[in-house]
Amino acid sequence: MGQATTDPVRLPPAPPIPKIAAGLGFIGARAKLVGTLAKRYGTAFTLNLPIFGKAVVISDPVLIKDLFTTSTELVGRASNLGVILGPGSTFSLDGDEHRERRKLLVPPFHGKRMQGYEHIIEEEVMRETASWPEGQEFQTLAPMMRITLNAILRAVFGAEGDALDELRELLPPAVALGSRLAVMPPFARRDLGRWSPWGRFLYYRRRYDAVIDRLIDQARSDPAFDERTDVLSLLLQARYENGEPIADRHVADELLTLLTAGHETTATTLAWTIERLRRHPRLLTRLTAEVDAGGSELRQATIWEVQRTRPVVDGTLRMTRQRIRLGEWVIPENHVVIVSIGLAHSAEANFPNAKAFNPDRFLGAAPDTHTWVPFGGGVRRCIGAAFANMELNVTLRTLLREFEFGTTYARGEPVHSRGVATAPGSGGRAVVYRRAPGSSAPTAQDTAMVSA
Ligand code: HEM
Repeated sequence: MGQATTDPVRLPPAPPIPKIAAGLGFIGARAKLVGTLAKRYGTAFTLNLPIFGKAVVISDPVLIKDLFTTSTELVGRASNLGVILGPGSTFSLDGDEHRERRKLLVPPFHGKRMQGYEHIIEEEVMRETASWPEGQEFQTLAPMMRITLNAILRAVFGAEGDALDELRELLPPAVALGSRLAVMPPFARRDLGRWSPWGRFLYYRRRYDAVIDRLIDQARSDPAFDERTDVLSLLLQARYENGEPIADRHVADELLTLLTAGHETTATTLAWTIERLRRHPRLLTRLTAEVDAGGSELRQATIWEVQRTRPVVDGTLRMTRQRIRLGEWVIPENHVVIVSIGLAHSAEANFPNAKAFNPDRFLGAAPDTHTWVPFGGGVRRCIGAAFANMELNVTLRTLLREFEFGTTYARGEPVHSRGVATAPGSGGRAVVYRRAPGSSAPTAQDTAMVSA
């Protein structure tokens, strides 16, 4: 783990790129920029960026492990999403406050509880796919966004009826606007009336708070409150060590956080899954045969490999609170350290033949915690990882059971950044054919393998 030190500062090598150019590259072509620099400088280098200042980018598993296990006295959060999500959001908390909140937030997302939500995902997939056209190419990203939105609103918010409809309409534009505002300078967050971006966001937020107040009242007055399994009810029932509940306003901030963190990330991963599978017909055939036989091992390996090769969050950040030693480097206080998820996943040293999309690499061998890091790690590791994995698994299982997918020789779709997550640039296009009820696995009509 990283240690406090008084040794002289020793930052990893810094390429001679002007700040502005580095900033533009970081926003517009991040994967290309860090990929080129990693070839020249290896698994740790320093970038001088606007707003962040000198940021250390790491992708070596030993350094990643050191950073993720460094005490929270020494490194803390570096995300500014909290200014959008509110003071009660996990993204606004650090140190002890963060630790105490996580103790209450982690149990509702524990792996063992996830099975209870499977029927919700299956229902949402069946509802959404009922209108999918056959034999005609279409984009899967928008349907996936609706599936993951509804899944979170039902399983996490416990919403149904009017509240579900209102949140379904209100939240997509609110979250999209909030994500844009989070990366803008503070002066953009001034209320200049309903038509200014911040004024509009506050308007959405007031409507959101009113719906959440209703949901909280409904949950508390439900005679079966104690047996409810939605995350909102579990958070209302949770108690800190001193016996205090989470304040209702903070529950509202936290639900918005879970939605912002979990909706687009899972939907874009699903769209990438379709994009990859269409280009790997033999794998598709094996996966369908496995679903028909009631298995899941290859499907799980495929989900891990999609997340390795197309991580939708390409990096995660920490801020040093004191001068720390990380491996051979000494990083001063108030410096950003970026774990490059994309670089860690594409390193030959971590994954032999890293460019190839090959789920078999994970058969019988679950991914390693410090080379496979799509959910980050340590005390800030993604709280919804088990939820996301369950949702990816059930969605893929249902799609394979219901559809045969048309395959393609087309090049892979380019990576497109949407703010929170990266998505397939053409929307994860698919061609589907409904499988006859009770039909067995389709034979591969095409055995071409297209990599990359
Ligand atoms: C494929 C889907 C997802 C991906 C790739 C993903 C990825 C991530 C990553 C990289 C982080 C930062 C971790 C770190 O800094 O070490 C994170 C944090 C977080 N994620 Fe996810 N996430 C996904 C789905 C979800 C879902 C479904 C939820 C909840 C419903 C969720 C809730 C959160 C929360 C609350 C945090 C903040 C944790 C903290 O700061 O303590 N995520 N996620």
